[in-house]
Amino acid sequence: MPTTLLFELNNGIARVTVNRPDKLNALNATVIAELGDAVTRIETDAAVRGVILTGSGQKAFVAGADIAELTAQTPMEGQARAILGQQVFRRLERCGKPVIAAINGFALGGGCELAMACHIRIAAEHAKFGQPEVKLGIGPGYGATARLPRLVGKGRALELLLTGGMIDAAEAYRIGLVNRVVSADKLLAEAEALLRTILENGPLAIRACLEAVDAGLETSLDQALLLEANHFGLLSATEDMREGTKAFLEKRKPLFKGA
Ligand code: COA
Repeated sequence: MPTTLLFELNNGIARVTVNRPDKLNALNATVIAELGDAVTRIETDAAVRGVILTGSGQKAFVAGADIAELTAQTPMEGQARAILGQQVFRRLERCGKPVIAAINGFALGGGCELAMACHIRIAAEHAKFGQPEVKLGIGPGYGATARLPRLVGKGRALELLLTGGMIDAAEAYRIGLVNRVVSADKLLAEAEALLRTILENGPLAIRACLEAVDAGLETSLDQALLLEANHFGLLSATEDMREGTKAFLEKRKPLFKGA
């Protein structure tokens, strides 16, 4: 049983909650290991169709890597810690099922990085974002230098990375770091409603979109277009594609099976 994470599965949606509220849900080695186990379940359990990731309590999503664990690390330990966390986040990003971060407060350092590894981000109005690692004399280790410029552009990313300053949810929305901002009491309901809307669609088509965008952004336009065309062709072999197109023509809702 995990000790720092809650994993609740309800009608296809796994709600994963980082649960160390007394430490603002900081990511220690146990959280990273348990997140890795949660990702394995997300990848392999067919009953999980989508994921909402959030933090325990009202104050923080995740306030970063656990600073207490960093103080004595050697260079090799630091590199290993970064690679391990990066691998867990990357597996989450590539799990093939939609993952929404419901950001219920501070998303700093590794917390902002974890949110960026999710596919869609919804923030509560009081959420705060930042990459304060430079204030500690260290740089980001869980992907911010790679994902932040991809999300918000190089100039804005560097401003956040170099100042270590915090921005509020409205500014995070303005620069494209989050998709939506809602009041705290509506955060989880909004995330669930959005995920349910996504899950009405064909799961194989959803998986193909996730994969094409993930891989397509890392390659040339021509390669990305070819990948899309290949998915388009491959999905034509699915029962879901037959069902989806037939249902449209018959003016009814499709019944997708993920096959
Ligand atoms: N690692 C370890 N512990 C952390 C933590 C982190 N990243 N962030 C918060 N905590 C702990 C605090 O040490 C404190 O523990 P204590 O009650 O045992 O002393 C508890 O969580 C509450 O945090 P506190 O700092 O008292 O709350 P605050 O409201 O005054 O400030 C923050 C909130 C988020 C501004 C502040 O906690 C902070 O700056 N955290 C670190 C953010 C950071 O640098 N993250 C990147 C790490 S690489």
